[in-house]
Amino acid sequence: MSLTGKRILLIIGGGIAAYKALDFIRRVRERGASVRPVLTAAGKQFVTPLSVSSLAGMSVHEDLFSLTEEANMGHIELSRAADLVVIAPATADLIAKAANGLANDLASTLLLATDKKVLMAPAMNVRMWLHPATQRNVAQLARDGVLFAGPVDGEMACGEFGPGRMVEPLEIVAAIEKALASSTAISLAGDGPLAGRKIIITSGPTHEPIDPVRYIANRSSGKQGHAIAQAAARAGAQVILVSGPVAIPDPSGVTTHHVETARDMLDAVEAALPADIFIGAAAVADWRVDNAGAQKMKKLTSGAPTLQFTENPDILASVCARTKDRPALVVGFAAETENVIAYAQDKLVRKKCDLVIANDVSPERGVMGGSKNEVHLVSKTGVESWPLLDKDEVARRLVDTIAAHFKKGYGA
Ligand code: PMT
Repeated sequence: MSLTGKRILLIIGGGIAAYKALDFIRRVRERGASVRPVLTAAGKQFVTPLSVSSLAGMSVHEDLFSLTEEANMGHIELSRAADLVVIAPATADLIAKAANGLANDLASTLLLATDKKVLMAPAMNVRMWLHPATQRNVAQLARDGVLFAGPVDGEMACGEFGPGRMVEPLEIVAAIEKALASSTAISLAGDGPLAGRKIIITSGPTHEPIDPVRYIANRSSGKQGHAIAQAAARAGAQVILVSGPVAIPDPSGVTTHHVETARDMLDAVEAALPADIFIGAAAVADWRVDNAGAQKMKKLTSGAPTLQFTENPDILASVCARTKDRPALVVGFAAETENVIAYAQDKLVRKKCDLVIANDVSPERGVMGGSKNEVHLVSKTGVESWPLLDKDEVARRLVDTIAAHFKKGYGA
């Protein structure tokens, strides 16, 4: 999608990632859009008004009470004369102000006054990002319809590692294109049907090492699990997504933990408990290599190496078996290539979950890795089959179903 003629109001917050905002301005302008920059007082500590205005080709707005700035363009007009408001970097402070409707400086006032979509690219220390206060604020903003690009895992300027790094400028551009292409208006609905509920969702494949450079995996893309996480966040839930290695972006308004193996995934799920709802959409490897090499395995003159397998822990079954903090609703998936419903019914009983979403993953169906899915909801009370749908639509319907049945209890 071209950004020709689009007007972006860019708020640059105070963080080391502010330097990326300069490249971002260039990338957006290259695509034909204009950028009207706003620099917070903290942002000014990292990039200068002169460099920002030179790249944007416009003067920088900095002060809520500046008579000259107000005379040129009042803050209300500034907040509306844009197609999209982008905050990059979005600091913990800016996020907290926006989530709570504060308006004590130009940036927060613009965010409260705008009637346009808002896209935030958070950047902060990993502990600040994972702090319950920030996660509450992000969940609130997601409910309010604010879009998020990132953050991603990486090494921080402070030397720590984890989620909190701002996404790269081109990824923000891609998120802008997506935001402007979607007709969904800013939701001011407030609390959704899952407000106040905490959901843990697993998604994607696991990688089980053979040696430091080789692994065993499967064809799961994470599309279905990530779509459920996104739909749950939009429905007001606090969502923790535990994702295996995937090539798709983290959903917005969701805390995403990236893991590699089944054992890592179990650890991340256990660390995230307790929760009201658990959804196991990940294609977890049933086995791992018992004799994985500590070094890259060499070709043998005596023939191919023999791999020995050992069973991985079953995450879904272990969540169901928890005595003190079993989630009130546990939803498993069943990926089958034959006897789809019968095998799902068996999993429902054997793993002791409340609902199993069965899908046929035979290659000709294109479910694993594809964008559509045809699912059957298997519970103690029966089977409900849905038609072939986009995975986003499956996710929305599943979230609606969970919200509707949550109090009643599946199979109760
Ligand atoms: O990722 P996509 O490309 O969008 O594809 C979506 C999907 C096909 C992967 C998804 O819809 C799906 O079916 N996920 C579950 C895949 C799977 O591993 O199914 P299973 O029948 O092998 O496992 C049954 C259930 O037990 C699943 O909820 C699984 O997450 C869980 N499990 C399995 C093994 C294990 N060691 N631990 C588990 O928790």
